[in-house]
Amino acid sequence: MYWRFPCPCSSHPFSKRASAGETGETLFKANCASCHPDGDNILNRKKTLRKADREANNILTAEDIIQKMRNPGPAPTHPQEWSGMKMFDKDKISDEDALKIANYVLETFK
Ligand code: HEC
Repeated sequence: MYWRFPCPCSSHPFSKRASAGETGETLFKANCASCHPDGDNILNRKKTLRKADREANNILTAEDIIQKMRNPGPAPTHPQEWSGMKMFDKDKISDEDALKIANYVLETFK
């Protein structure tokens, strides 16, 4: 007997869009993990993606994370530490994918 019904887990890659099998996790690994392995930050140890750091830097919601992707800096308090997070505009990462990544970050790095 084959599985004939939509997978009940909402994160299943095929449950919403039959085409793209990209989850927040795969998108994160492809676009972000080079600088944020395991939610770390290889360029700025004070700005990891973990909750404590995010809260300290006022990045609280999925919106805030998307904002950071769209317009990463310069950081207002440390302009000299402008450390070159890449910018991800809508051509690189769609709004839909950006939200997936943001939710992945919120759920994964605590
Ligand atoms: C080229 C390296 C690089 C890549 C790729 C990168 N980042 Fe960053 N990220 C940084 C740096 C550097 C900072 C600190 C920037 C600053 O000074 O505010 C940062 C900061 C952040 C922050 C704020 C964390 C905090 O505690 O203040 C978030 C959220 C974030 N990145 C998410 C992402 C996401 C999501 C992606 C993938 C779409 C991504 N980053 C890709 C380098 C990178």
